[in-house]
Amino acid sequence: MQNFVLHNQTKIIFGADRLQEIGSEAKVLGARALLVYGRQSIRQNGILTAVTASLQSCSVAIIHHGGVQSNPLLSHVRQGIAKAKEEQVDMVIAVGGGSVIDSAKAIAAGALVDHDVWKFFNGKKSIKQCLPLACVLTLAAAGSEMNGGMVITHDDRKVKFGTGNRLLNPVVSILDPTLTYTVPPDYTAYGAADAIAHILEFYFSTADASTPVQDRFMEGLVINIMESCDKVLHDPCHYQGRADLMWCATLALNGWTAAGLGLVGFPMHMIEHTLSAHHDIAHGAGLSVVMPAWLAHQAERAPHKFAQFGRRVFQVEQKECRAAARAGIARLQEWLRGAGCPTSLAELGIAPETIPFLAEQSLPLAKLWRLKEYDQEKIETILRSCL
Ligand code: NZQ
Ligand code: ZN
Repeated sequence: MQNFVLHNQTKIIFGADRLQEIGSEAKVLGARALLVYGRQSIRQNGILTAVTASLQSCSVAIIHHGGVQSNPLLSHVRQGIAKAKEEQVDMVIAVGGGSVIDSAKAIAAGALVDHDVWKFFNGKKSIKQCLPLACVLTLAAAGSEMNGGMVITHDDRKVKFGTGNRLLNPVVSILDPTLTYTVPPDYTAYGAADAIAHILEFYFSTADASTPVQDRFMEGLVINIMESCDKVLHDPCHYQGRADLMWCATLALNGWTAAGLGLVGFPMHMIEHTLSAHHDIAHGAGLSVVMPAWLAHQAERAPHKFAQFGRRVFQVEQKECRAAARAGIARLQEWLRGAGCPTSLAELGIAPETIPFLAEQSLPLAKLWRLKEYDQEKIETILRSCL
């Protein structure tokens, strides 16, 4: 176990019917809020009405900035920054999933600087201050509600970059599982795939050969994500299932799983971001295709941890390490497919002849994220094995 500092200052308000607390939580942060949300879901399911009523009852003025799309766009963030500056808001409130929360984070950081917000993403500038951010989570997936990460797509350049800073952690996030009852089966499953990928990125990329506490914690999260997702796909209003899935997705990327692992990487995400940027596919769907291919590629090189994963998460019985590793990966892919996730590039509508281009497009992010071993050939090999 490596030395570590764990400092996560986001206040989590968890449970059924907690939505109406957004007004009193926002009042503490100021009097004028930029309200950031997606396209139609929160209008249709009544969440926007409830949030508006709660904020108004606490005399918090609302400036609307709806229309965030999945794989959120820099152009929409820039419009939000202009609005935040013009209206001199005190805070940003995000009501939605990871795309909405990440857009809100970028606006909250961009509103306090004169340079273009994209400079935070290409490493040219670092974040020194940020408007306070409050979140109401409506989709269990990205974990953005309790971390300092944000991912935005540059519309013109078609690159999707992520960056992180503790200042971007929301001040408060309301995690009310009943708000996810209306999430359709596909996005429920994609969210589960994303959360599993967050866990496995760290589980398999740590160089530390002895992390028993973290290993069991992460294995347990993966098992709970699959079991709760199965319950929710069967019954979308299964409260326990929605609650477990939501909390697991948050725990998967709030810093707790990575504690003590030392340096870890995010290679599956580096590859997936290119797929999302160029083909505008759901992030979790892209990961569901890339994840088994990446796992299989890595397992051939160092099968022990993958065999441990197969034995502890799927109770595979193969004695030989590589065989156990392959069996575990096959069982994960089988679960993803059973949950309705795509498991091939073909299902994403991505043709084999585009692989060299997609691999080449992934290199700038590989460089930014210091994933030195990921060159054109390695990325192409991984992509070819998920055709
Ligand atoms: O736009 P609306 O109409 O609101 O519909 C959304 C959207 O179409 C819908 N939805 C959300 N809540 C709903 C709902 N539909 C019905 N009922 C509800 N309660 O779901 C669709 C997908 O929403 P989105 O926010 O895009 O999904 P997700 O939460 O998976 O976020 C994906 C984004 O998160 C980023 C990804 O790159 C991607 O852009 N990530 C952020 C990370 C972070 N900040 O730490 C890490 C992750 O790895 C990830 O990269
Ligand atoms: Zn992700």
